[in-house]
Amino acid sequence: MKTIIEPFRIKVVEPLRMTTREERERILRDADFNPFRIRSRDVIIDLLTDSGTGAMSSAQWAGIMQGDESYAGASSFYRFEEVMKDLTGFEHVLPTHQGRASERILFELVGGEGKVVPNNNHFDTTRANIEHSGAEAVDLVIDEGKQPTVHHPFKGNMDIDKLTSLIERVGADKIPLVMVTITDNSDGGQPVSLENLRAVREVCDEHGLPMFLDACRFAENAYFIKLRESDHAEKSVAAIAAEMFSLADGATFSAKKDGLANIGGWLAMNNEDWAVECRNRLILTEGFSTYGGLSGRDLAAIAIGLEEVVEEDYLRYRIASTEYVARHISEAGVPIMKPAGGHAVYIDARQMLPHIPPLQYPGQALAVELYKEGGIRGCEIGTAMFGLRPDGKEEPAHMDLVRLAIPRRMYTQAHMDFVVEVITEVHHNREKLRGMKFIRQPPALRHFTGRFDYVDP
Ligand code: F0G
Repeated sequence: MKTIIEPFRIKVVEPLRMTTREERERILRDADFNPFRIRSRDVIIDLLTDSGTGAMSSAQWAGIMQGDESYAGASSFYRFEEVMKDLTGFEHVLPTHQGRASERILFELVGGEGKVVPNNNHFDTTRANIEHSGAEAVDLVIDEGKQPTVHHPFKGNMDIDKLTSLIERVGADKIPLVMVTITDNSDGGQPVSLENLRAVREVCDEHGLPMFLDACRFAENAYFIKLRESDHAEKSVAAIAAEMFSLADGATFSAKKDGLANIGGWLAMNNEDWAVECRNRLILTEGFSTYGGLSGRDLAAIAIGLEEVVEEDYLRYRIASTEYVARHISEAGVPIMKPAGGHAVYIDARQMLPHIPPLQYPGQALAVELYKEGGIRGCEIGTAMFGLRPDGKEEPAHMDLVRLAIPRRMYTQAHMDFVVEVITEVHHNREKLRGMKFIRQPPALRHFTGRFDYVDP
């Protein structure tokens, strides 16, 4: 059969509140044209993030009832640890409340003034935690990863030459570890090949460096390897994932993505000395080492989520639904980052709206219009987010994108057809969209709380 159906049926529903265009115009004005300021009850399809927004399975909800809330030695932890060891093979597993807590604990230990951490692309919180420790975060993705229209099966790959020259330039003693983010969220949810992970491993071995994964979307990455890298088509996703993890010395993880849970994370590694240090830090601010800031029921949900996320029927549907939206809007002429990533579709607002200069935030204008037209909430990733420099001057970001991140197991194909229809309609009327300006902005992270209005006609 050609039709890929949702590999689940619906047992519990959460009603969506339909709004009219007039209501949405008023809501937008009240929110000062910033989608982050809109209440979720006023959103019809929420594509702000795929983080912590997915639907849990009946098995996960059943697991929640069996959560063991003991302070120490809870059986939920041992179940979680067993699943983790089977999946990743890492010797030491620390639960955390989410990905950024793992990053904080790790980089407090290995970062610091004068250190340099390479990555294909640091996610914002990873970069922020590295920089907070005093270290420098360097992005070394291949050039194709930065070009929205260039096709490459693994646009998240690390540029091995750039990695080698960085190590030679700064010295291996300044580099505490090499990180690889799978999939590469900051460049569109693009995967990294096993061949590339092996090449990074070789460079690390040559220089005696540990290699860590930011494994938030490891299952989506493993499925792309199965689809696109020769010799792996016959392997199970779990086997490919195990191979990816076996190349690394440790990993950080947010269970809000490929943990199929609403909260949680982990930090895992093989180095016992580091694990002891990290556990001490975990206990200091997160919680005892068998719960790490989570409840026992959260650990139960994550353990079951990690088993479900590598199921191929699920991943086939997951990757197909992202690709479905990308293909249909692309056929309608909407410029997008290609190929579609695992968890999100990125619209190139700068190319779609050439009459709006970058300093009038074409991405923000498009995000606002998608809400106005169909109650869809996406997120600007462009000049509003990155254009303000520390000295207070503004300059255009590298790209002006709108990210539509698709929550896991939450929306059906009819919802996605609606999304396609809304985007196509906005694209049809694109010449009528107007630029935006800030009317109030905080000095940092202005996209979250800043207030906007249209520029004068
Ligand atoms: N690493 C990557 C690649 C991520 O995408 C995220 C979160 C994190 C680390 C941090 O994890 O949120 O659990 O602390 N990304 C979300 C997003 C927020 O919308 O892409 P966290």
